[in-house]
Amino acid sequence: MDPSLSALLPYLTCATRPTAWFADENALAVSFNAGDAGANLTAFSNRYDVDQRLRRLGVRSHFCDFDAAALQRADYTSVVYRISKEKPLAHHLINRAYRCLDAGGRLVLGGEKSEGIKSYTQKAAALFGSPAALRKHGKVYIGEIAKAAGANPDQAAWLDDQHYGDLRPIARLDGHTLYSKPGVFGWNKVDAGSALLIDNLQAALETLPRPPASLLDLGCGYGYLTLASAAIGAGRRVATDNNAAALAAAGHNFRSAGLAVEVTAGDCGDRLTERFDLILCNPPFHQGFTVAGDLTDKFLQAAGRLLNPTGLALFVVNRFVPLPRRAAVFFRRLTPLADNRSFSVFALAQPRT
Ligand SMILES: C[S@@+](CC[C@H](N)C(=O)[O-])C[C@H]1O[C@@H](n2cnc3c(N)ncnc32)[C@H](O)[C@@H]1O
Repeated sequence: MDPSLSALLPYLTCATRPTAWFADENALAVSFNAGDAGANLTAFSNRYDVDQRLRRLGVRSHFCDFDAAALQRADYTSVVYRISKEKPLAHHLINRAYRCLDAGGRLVLGGEKSEGIKSYTQKAAALFGSPAALRKHGKVYIGEIAKAAGANPDQAAWLDDQHYGDLRPIARLDGHTLYSKPGVFGWNKVDAGSALLIDNLQAALETLPRPPASLLDLGCGYGYLTLASAAIGAGRRVATDNNAAALAAAGHNFRSAGLAVEVTAGDCGDRLTERFDLILCNPPFHQGFTVAGDLTDKFLQAAGRLLNPTGLALFVVNRFVPLPRRAAVFFRRLTPLADNRSFSVFALAQPRT
């Protein structure tokens, strides 16, 4: 388990007063018994797989993008937060913690020096109007900051979250503006691997006996692959991701492009039961503490389960991911479609399941 979360566990398992836990991807491998503290503990997670795991551990959990609507209560006695990798999110959550806590309530931060825990703790102390206590547990630091009664932070004390909650234009595609936001993987650009997949889409479709009637965007992010393949006249389109910010951005982009797409949360499409004629996928390379290979297998397995026996799954991966070997477990046919110095695109067919 992540050492910073291990150091924070006592604050979660001994919650005797209302405690909010901001749990991002770092909490994926968390393991503990919520026990009696469970009644006082409420988790908020932007990751569907984390949310589901916490529920299984007996924690009341909400899947959300840490937005104001989800975090309405302002009377928590504690907020526990293992700092995120992404700075705008970390700043957003420290600001959010201030709003969620009642006077005298405390924020408990955990993280390592190289992740900026000291600086986050100092910034939180300035916002909260009281000194921070910082303690070292091995290589992990725990910072505790109480919210001063009657504090009224001036504008300069709020941490710059780059308007974390707001969608913003990032690119143009076929006459439409694409919107995205911090919190979405690679949020501010078109992924070069995904662009390579789309460049090879038409040629791949020509190998099919008929145009695909259904399309699944597996790990859809802000929806690029679905939007860039809109010219395919698929009657049914589904886009799924495990990240709340990605789902919000994708939904917005599909609506503004006038494209009918069912957007659904899931861990590699685990809630989907139908099969699709075409699956488009750019699986994540690194995520949290999981190694890339495990995730590639997980996405391949999901594609094998969700692809029609006569359908096609297009995958783009970093060039050094040994996709042919891994895909052979789940598909009988693999065709290399394109390769540049960074990415490879493959067509997978005839799922074994
Ligand atoms: C490399 S990005 C590709 C995003 C998008 N398809 C594109 O082309 O821009 C991988 C996506 O997979 C999502 N993801 C990671 N783990 C996932 C999981 N277990 N289930 C569903 N989606 C996941 C990430 O949130 C991210 O949006």
